[in-house]
Amino acid sequence: MLATAPVRSSNPDHGIVSSPGGEPAGHATSPSATAGFSHEWEERYRESTHLSIWPWSDLVSLTHRHASPKAGFRRVLELGCGAGANIPFYLALGCEYHAIEGSLSIVRTLRGSFPDIASQLLCGDFTFALPQTDASIDLVVDRASITHNDTLSVKAALRHAARVLRPGGKFIGVDWFSTEHEDSQRGTAVDAHTRRDIDSRNFGGVGQVHFSDEAHLLSLFSAAGFEIEVLQHKVHDHRIGGHGAHFASWNLVAVKG
Ligand SMILES: C[S@@+](CC[C@H](N)C(=O)[O-])C[C@H]1O[C@@H](n2cnc3c(N)ncnc32)[C@H](O)[C@@H]1O
Repeated sequence: MLATAPVRSSNPDHGIVSSPGGEPAGHATSPSATAGFSHEWEERYRESTHLSIWPWSDLVSLTHRHASPKAGFRRVLELGCGAGANIPFYLALGCEYHAIEGSLSIVRTLRGSFPDIASQLLCGDFTFALPQTDASIDLVVDRASITHNDTLSVKAALRHAARVLRPGGKFIGVDWFSTEHEDSQRGTAVDAHTRRDIDSRNFGGVGQVHFSDEAHLLSLFSAAGFEIEVLQHKVHDHRIGGHGAHFASWNLVAVKG
């Protein structure tokens, strides 16, 4: 078992508070509307929306190809597990699965659905700190979670991920939204790469959305001590159905140096 001690940020406003095996002790408000976890997610889960429960196929294939437990990637930490879509996949592979998620209500639900690993499903803000000890994790996975934060928070999350990964450990990122996404200029600018309050089918009511181009991704990951070994740009043009959306995102596999 990995150490998953309760963690509290040195800044009490940041309120990353988790109690393994028990209820999260609380979740304070971020210091500003543009830093860290967007509390809109809590509202979405309370309304029972965004409840994806099937594993994301890109994450399944990237894990099998680049970071399977047979190749030594057994201890997995998911950042922003949401409604737990990817949990059954990693459990089926025989991985030791851990997650940190900002929404208290969805963490409570998940602890009921996965009682055997309840103590490994923590509520907290992964941009402020991670409770795992240094170099204790083989694989960090993130499907469209870090990319729902502003630039400073994205940088912080990657630094924390690099700290908990062992040397040679990997980070798989799926659906980091691209500057080529049709919504990348909508809403209100938070910083050069982040928008919020986007009134669209994809991003309505979910707070901050970070849009990356290739140079930005290379710079973010290299600054955190990663080398990107796979980078894919995915564009979906919905010609029939999908409301004509032009969806664009990045998938990547990065290795901790
Ligand atoms: C688009 S959902 C993806 C959920 C899940 N990864 C999946 O693939 O189905 C983004 C998730 O990231 C979580 N999240 C975003 N920023 C976070 C932060 N700073 N700390 C903790 N969780 C965060 C949200 O609460 C939400 O559950």
